Amino acid sequence: MPSPAFSEAQIREQLRAVRYPGFSRDIVSFGIISAIEIAPNGRDVTVRFKIATNQPQIAQQIKDQAGVALQALPGVGDVRLEFDIQNPVTAQTGVGPQTLPGVRHIIAVASGKGGVGKSTVAANLAIALQAETGGSVGLCDCDLYGPSIALMFGVDREGASATEDEQIIPVEAHGLKLMSMGFLLSEDAPAILRGPMVTRLTQQFLRRVVWGDLDYLVLDLPPGTGDIQLTVVQTVALDGAVIVTTPQEVALIDARKASSMFSKTNVPVLGIVENMSYFLCPGDGQRYDIFGAGGGEREAKRLGVALLGQVPIDIATREGGDRGRPIVLGEPAGAVAQEFRAIAARVRSAVERPVAV
Ligand SMILES: Nc1ncnc2c1ncn2[C@@H]1O[C@H](COP(=O)(O)OP(=O)(O)OP(=O)(O)O)[C@@H](O)[C@H]1O
Ligand SMILES: [Mg+2]
Repeated sequence: MPSPAFSEAQIREQLRAVRYPGFSRDIVSFGIISAIEIAPNGRDVTVRFKIATNQPQIAQQIKDQAGVALQALPGVGDVRLEFDIQNPVTAQTGVGPQTLPGVRHIIAVASGKGGVGKSTVAANLAIALQAETGGSVGLCDCDLYGPSIALMFGVDREGASATEDEQIIPVEAHGLKLMSMGFLLSEDAPAILRGPMVTRLTQQFLRRVVWGDLDYLVLDLPPGTGDIQLTVVQTVALDGAVIVTTPQEVALIDARKASSMFSKTNVPVLGIVENMSYFLCPGDGQRYDIFGAGGGEREAKRLGVALLGQVPIDIATREGGDRGRPIVLGEPAGAVAQEFRAIAARVRSAVERPVAV
C-alpha cells in the first residue's frame, strides 16, 4: 500500500482557509467536520460535514471552497465532500418532528394563498382515502383563526372531549376521526393569539389528540407559510405535502412559496392539486377556463412534482362544503368525486413508497 502523500492534519490545515458563510470563523474551528478519510491509494480524500441549517446554499458554498482548498494539496487525487444537513430546530432541541403513535402516514394539505380550496381538498381527500382503502382515516384542522372542517362536516365543538390527563378525543363523523383546533378555543380567543403562543398551542394540540390507529392522517393547514405551518412541519413527521392552487398566477406564486417551505424543511412535496380548474357548463357542456388554463401543470413541471389532479369549479362542491356533506360523500358517482378519488390514489401511491428527500 502506498504511503499517503499527506496526513489528516494537513487536510485540516487546508480546510482552515475556508470560512463558514456569514461568519469570520473557519469551518474546522466551527466543528462541522465529522470525518476525514484518506483512501488506501493515499491520494483520494473524503471529508464529511455535519451542519445545521435550513439554507442549502450554505452547504454548497462550503463545498465549493473546501473543494478548491483540498485540490491545492500536493499529490491529492479525487476529493469527495459529503454533507449531512440537519434542521436547526431539531439540532438545537434534540427533538425533531415526531411520528404520532399508531398513525402510519401523515399528509399535510397546504397552499400559499388563502381560499383556494385547501379545506375542500383536505376533506374530500380524507373521505376518498377512507372509501378507497376501507382503512382508518383522520382529518385535523390546523387553522386556529378560521377553522372550517367543523362546518364542512356539520360537527360542532361539543363533540370533542378531553380525558382527565388532558388528552383530546376526536369527533367521529362520516367514518372519519375529526379534530379541529377551533374546538379548543372560545369564540373570541383568536384575537389574542400571537407568535410564540400560537407555536406552543399548535405543538400541544398536535401531540395531545388521541387518534388511535390510523392509516392516514390528513392535516388541513391554514394558508401561507407562517408560524403555524412551520410549527406543524417541525412537530410531526410528515410523509409529504399536497399543495393546492388555482390556475391563476397570483395563486401559483404563493404555491411556490409553500413548496419551498416544505423543501427547506425536508418534507417531500407529493404534488399539486389544481382546484377551480375549469367550469363545465351544464347548459352547453363546454369547458370554460375561468382562472386561465394550464397553470397547475406548468407549476408542477417547474417544481418537478406530480400534478395530482384538476378539480373543476362546481356548485355542488361548494354546497356540499357548506352543508356539511363533502362532494365525495354527497355525489360519489359524479365527476368531481371521481377526480378526488384519483387524487387520493396518487397520494396513496406516493406515500406508500419511500420518497427520497
Ligand atoms: N372546486 C370548487 N368548486 C366550487 N367551490 C369550491 C371549490 N373548492 C372550494 N370551493 C369553495 O370555495 C370556498 C373556499 O374553499 P376552502 O374553504 O376549501 O378554501 P381554503 O383554501 O381552505 O381557504 P382558507 O385559506 O380560508 O383556509 C368555500 O366556500 C368552498 O366551498
Ligand atoms: Mg381552509
